[in-house]
Amino acid sequence: MDWNLLRRLFLIGALIFSTSFPPSPALARGGDRPSNRTEWRDGLVFGRQLFEEENPSRITDDQIRGYMTNSELEGFVKDFGQRCRNISTIYSIGRSVRGIPLWVIEISDKPGEEEPEPSFKFIANMHGDEPVGRELLVRLANWLCDNYLKDPLATTIVENVHLHILPTMNPDGFSLRTRENANNVDLNRDFPDQFFPVNDIVDTRQPETKAIITWMKEKYFTASASLHGGALVVNYPWDGSKDTRKHYYECPDDKTFRYLAQIYSHSHHNMSLSSEFRDGITNGADWYPIYGGMQDWNYIHEGCFEWTVEISDLKWPKATELPKLWEYNRLSMLNIVASILKTRVHGRIFSSSTGHPLPASVLIKGNPIKINATTKLGSYHRLLVPGESYQITAAMSGFQSKTTEIHLRGNKGASLDFILDPLEEEAPLMNNLKNCDCDYAIGLHIFLVFCVFFLFMFYFFRKKLPFKSFIRPIKTSIV
Ligand SMILES: *[C@@H]1O[C@H](CO)[C@@H](O)[C@H](O)[C@H]1NC(C)=O
Ligand SMILES: *[C@@H]1O[C@H](CO)[C@@H](O)[C@H](O)[C@H]1NC(C)=O
Ligand SMILES: *[C@@H]1O[C@H](CO)[C@@H](O)[C@H](O)[C@H]1NC(C)=O
Ligand SMILES: *[C@@H]1O[C@H](CO)[C@@H](O)[C@H](O)[C@H]1NC(C)=O
Ligand SMILES: [Zn+2]
Repeated sequence: MDWNLLRRLFLIGALIFSTSFPPSPALARGGDRPSNRTEWRDGLVFGRQLFEEENPSRITDDQIRGYMTNSELEGFVKDFGQRCRNISTIYSIGRSVRGIPLWVIEISDKPGEEEPEPSFKFIANMHGDEPVGRELLVRLANWLCDNYLKDPLATTIVENVHLHILPTMNPDGFSLRTRENANNVDLNRDFPDQFFPVNDIVDTRQPETKAIITWMKEKYFTASASLHGGALVVNYPWDGSKDTRKHYYECPDDKTFRYLAQIYSHSHHNMSLSSEFRDGITNGADWYPIYGGMQDWNYIHEGCFEWTVEISDLKWPKATELPKLWEYNRLSMLNIVASILKTRVHGRIFSSSTGHPLPASVLIKGNPIKINATTKLGSYHRLLVPGESYQITAAMSGFQSKTTEIHLRGNKGASLDFILDPLEEEAPLMNNLKNCDCDYAIGLHIFLVFCVFFLFMFYFFRKKLPFKSFIRPIKTSIV
């Protein structure tokens, strides 16, 4: 075998291998998995489903009167796209099991364009029998269209946020009057889970779930609210606890989640006066743990902060109640969107050599959640509770990481751009080694660095010195 070729292959292999272990051990949560499916499935309480089964009353035709049908909703979306076309665009993210398009309204002064602004999404009717949210989202879209340039909150949102509204995620469940979709699957149990291998098989995932996952990977949502019914509370991560018991299970951004959840509950007519939930907010696992939910998935996989908002005690109140429910929630919905502008660090990341934007990752010291800057603009939005100091790092492979300390003053947020210097040719290996805090990879890195060094020296001496006959036996023992 040709020694030169072997040497090259080994060097390339060593480099690829050593950079394929990103230094993020804490994100790899989910150890302690029971060894097989039946084992955990039997022991697990699917809490939110139990609640439903206590009260399996059928929804009567009388209750449905006054709610938009699916085709009326589709008509509304299309009309809205016309009526309000200079600040909106409409698009579909996929279809339900029965083929109904999942329509989204995007509201912005530059709809459909990419800007260095945060994106917020509202999703409603994930549970087919919780239709109040879809009615409120229709009213929200109308209100923003009617009040742009008249009301300061409407104008702030239209000009500084890209707001995406999905009034129904489960149109089939709505027409069947069931919580589940047409395949009888609860969509809020259909997402990949951090603790249990519940939904890891892509092929068995529902079309509605797949549509959301694809949508999430295309847009860079900063935050999100999913509207449900049957209680009056804002629920925040984690939804599931590692030990499957009901208790407060804090996520790395607990403070920020609580801060914004309270903005919702305190802007509401009476949510914060709840006797069941202090301040009208709750940690999901503290209420009852669920697994395979959308909220935790958004946060873990896409760095998008999602709240599950229960907007009315009655799942299907009489339609004559809807104007009142809209009034109760209007300010909450507007405030939580506008507040992300004041509860963040944001900016853009560029390369010092080319000046081009970089899709680098943004990390906060002591927090494993990564937020990625966008590919096209290199813009990022990292939600953080005000009044504290943070060490913020921008990192990108092939570039030198940079860290800045910043203090977030009340109600302003902060703007922070990064310009990253490219690394030298051989440097990624050394840099990874230096920053790596994952002990499993350190030994490997040292070994690989040593191998590369050794091979290099070996090759060098072989060329420069007349030792060829002396070296040959060693070579065969390595290969
Ligand atoms: C899964 O776990 C259960 C309970 O421990 C056990 O009875 C069963 O044999 C296991 N199945 C497999 C395929 O390992
Ligand atoms: C949208 O149209 C209204 C009315 O014609 C106009 O006042 C407003 O400036 C337009 N807004 C944008 C973002 O173009
Ligand atoms: C909030 O107000 C509604 C309507 O007046 C009432 O039905 C509900 O019980 C109130 N909830 C709380 C927590 O005060
Ligand atoms: C962020 O970027 C990294 C590196 O390109 C990638 O591995 C990761 O999946 C991205 N994360 C998100 C949430 O998009
Ligand atoms: Zn629900």
